[in-house]
Amino acid sequence: MERNQVLIPQAELARQREFEEKIRRMFEGREAHPVACVDTFGCQQNVADGQKLMGMLRECGFTFTSEAGEADLVILNTCAIREHAEQRVFGNLGALTHSKRENPEQVICLCGCMAQEERVSRRVKESYRHVDLVFGPQALWKFPELLWQVYETKKRVFSVDDEHGTIAEGIPVVRERGVKAWVSIMYGCNNFCSYCIVPYVRGRERSRDPECVLREVRELVEAGYKDITLLGQNVNSYGNDLHIGYDFSDLLSDIDKIPGDYLIRFMSSHPKDATYKLFDTMARCPHVAKQLHLPVQSGNDRVLREMNRRYTREQYLDLVRYAKEKMPGLVLTSDIIIGFPGETEEEAMDTVSLVEEVGYDALFTFIYSPRPGTKAAAMPDPAPRSEKQKWFDKLCQAQNAISASLHAAYIGKTLRVLVDGRSDDGDYPLAGRTEGNRLVRLKGDEDLMGQFINVKITDSNTWALYGQAE
Ligand code: SAH
Ligand code: SF4
Ligand code: F3S
Repeated sequence: MERNQVLIPQAELARQREFEEKIRRMFEGREAHPVACVDTFGCQQNVADGQKLMGMLRECGFTFTSEAGEADLVILNTCAIREHAEQRVFGNLGALTHSKRENPEQVICLCGCMAQEERVSRRVKESYRHVDLVFGPQALWKFPELLWQVYETKKRVFSVDDEHGTIAEGIPVVRERGVKAWVSIMYGCNNFCSYCIVPYVRGRERSRDPECVLREVRELVEAGYKDITLLGQNVNSYGNDLHIGYDFSDLLSDIDKIPGDYLIRFMSSHPKDATYKLFDTMARCPHVAKQLHLPVQSGNDRVLREMNRRYTREQYLDLVRYAKEKMPGLVLTSDIIIGFPGETEEEAMDTVSLVEEVGYDALFTFIYSPRPGTKAAAMPDPAPRSEKQKWFDKLCQAQNAISASLHAAYIGKTLRVLVDGRSDDGDYPLAGRTEGNRLVRLKGDEDLMGQFINVKITDSNTWALYGQAE
């Protein structure tokens, strides 16, 4: 696609701001201002999308609640990655029939990745008639117009065309209070891993212009954000579609030049496109956290091939070796799928042995969930769930032991920690993150909140470190 077909023209975006104004005026006659409940599921990209939805709603005059029953507008911003995620959303949608009965004026909206699935939008159209508005991630930028249509026509609105996807710059954002911020640097995915629904619901890969990303990060740093995560399904292919000879490492180098006291993280990083240049850049740039989420999915070459991951176990281990050599103390995490169709116990144990060989600090582990429409969903899948569960438990046991021992090695050390919240542990009332993104519960004064401080680590377990502000 040509770049000018990808970028939404400013005139179009200005039109959306006019719809926000129309909605705001419509509500002005009412005694109380309108209230919205935005419930986001899934990954950080979806969280970032939810913050844009809230930004647009704020321009429409809305304030926010977490109680669907109190809201004039309820939005479920959904995730399609596993069956369980979808079931939860259908459960929530079902429950909303009650709140709509109590308040027939309530507008209910389903968006996010599930909404882009034909199967889902059809089901909602037929069986969830209390849902007023359905739109996929590709239509997010025209949410004000779609919402206006609902208010104006009092009819159900569906905007789920299978578009390749676009980039809309300058959508307002409501960010969480605090020191953490998310910045999408690209959208969509071209990789078609055989188990994954994302390329079908998020369209093709498209990168934001470097100047736009740099401007946003600079503004965040100036506004006091200290822990900024760059987001993309595969940040390592950032820039490929721009054809200007500029890649993700170049972007990291340029961001790093922005003055200030902050850390930059990124996810996800696909091993097939991870390069030595990336690790050299990370090692060289003081603002880039020495932390790497490098999802391996499996430690067996046959399974990796069937998954269409396009790297081997050896190639992956070589990347890890190089990254650790360049960045001593690097914190490494990964995603793993157990029970891919046709996977045997021996193959699953190859994954366990890889996990032990790498020594990850933490893992995100999943049992394979078939996604209708993907290649893997049509593959024979003979291993019973109970068998997969056993392999999964072995993996978790192995990882828990590794996490516990890596965490224990921090005891007695002093680490730089960004205090970013409260902990639910009365003895250690504050929570923070190390540069490697490990959770620290700590003793110290409230006024340390939002600051980088030195913490002496005194205790640990599988999930967290414990310490005292120095
Ligand atoms: N783009 C990222 C992954 C995004 S999805 C990457 O490639 O690293 C997050 C994780 O969900 C994946 O890494 C994978 O481990 C898991 N996942 C994706 N599809 C799945 C499925 N069908 N069943 C189980 N887990 C899945
Ligand atoms: Fe899914 Fe693979 Fe794309 Fe990640 S890289 S979003 S796992 S298709
Ligand atoms: Fe889920 Fe969509 Fe993210 S499927 S994991 S919300 S990209």
